[in-house]
Amino acid sequence: MAASIKHQPRAVAPSKRDFLDMSSITKAELDGLLALAARMKAELKAGLEHPHLRGKTLAMVFQKPSLRTRITFETGMAQLGGHAIYLAPNDIGIGERESVKDVARNMSRVVDLIMIRTFTHETCVELAREASVPVINALTDLLHPCQVLADLLTLQERFGRDLRKLRLAFVGDGFNMAHSWIEAAVLAGFELRLACPKGYEPDKSFMQMFRRAECGILSNDPITAVKDADAVYTDTWTSMGREKEAAQRRKDFKGFQVNAALMKHAATGAIVMHCLPAHRGEEITDDVIDGPRSAVLEEAENRLHAQKAVMVWLLRPEVLQIASAAE
Ligand code: CP
Ligand code: NVA
Repeated sequence: MAASIKHQPRAVAPSKRDFLDMSSITKAELDGLLALAARMKAELKAGLEHPHLRGKTLAMVFQKPSLRTRITFETGMAQLGGHAIYLAPNDIGIGERESVKDVARNMSRVVDLIMIRTFTHETCVELAREASVPVINALTDLLHPCQVLADLLTLQERFGRDLRKLRLAFVGDGFNMAHSWIEAAVLAGFELRLACPKGYEPDKSFMQMFRRAECGILSNDPITAVKDADAVYTDTWTSMGREKEAAQRRKDFKGFQVNAALMKHAATGAIVMHCLPAHRGEEITDDVIDGPRSAVLEEAENRLHAQKAVMVWLLRPEVLQIASAAE
């Protein structure tokens, strides 16, 4: 079911910035982050180092499992000359063994940056409010901004820097990924076509934002969304923490599979995207995810480059300004 949490982008504190959602950054900041990510990616491929965060430490708080998020943040911090500490779900017991506020204040005395993957978005917002160091949202039940930033980089690589003419179809659950796509479409100005089963539409506050911006449509029909789309995006039908609903969801999402028949309705040259992990045979078929149109491994790799840009921006904003000015 769609998340029922009210979406309230944080007011931007003058003293520090966080990266909790796409609604709290400007279009210029988005462009700067993507430019910096692309530049650091090219530098890395050319064997050049960019140790902008030498001596800095990132604490990574995970209350849910992860492959990509963990390996990309940890590798990214190492490539930037810094250090990352992995804190597994049972390590600190945030909000249980110790309050979010106490965790935030202790961490702020020791590390330079915090990344959190958690359930309720409020935990992430509270951590950011109580911490004096920047906080990055690495997925909540409401949003997944790091994934969408990496995906925008992938789209730029495939379609060019100006994404305003792009038509992206999102087929599946109106949950965290769909919410982040709405924020991204509103900010970057491309067309977003959402197709969700009845009862699984995005949260009302996101739909209000989406309708106000007039940047796309919501339907309950995947073909309507995918028709002539340049990119077709999907996500798991059962997100982390909702495993008990899996059997019901398999029934409710019938007809929302991204397969060869659905892809026939997309534009010539359309790509297929997925944040991963994929449940092959459910939301996507093997032939499509492994086929020539699939961009899923580029997306996964781009998590590294996009998040490095976010970390550099939060701790060394002048580097982003220089990258933006050079564009
Ligand atoms: N897409 C993504 O966030 O992957 P992980 O859950 O493996 O981190
Ligand atoms: N919607 C998925 C995204 C995983 C990256 C989940 O929350 O599990």
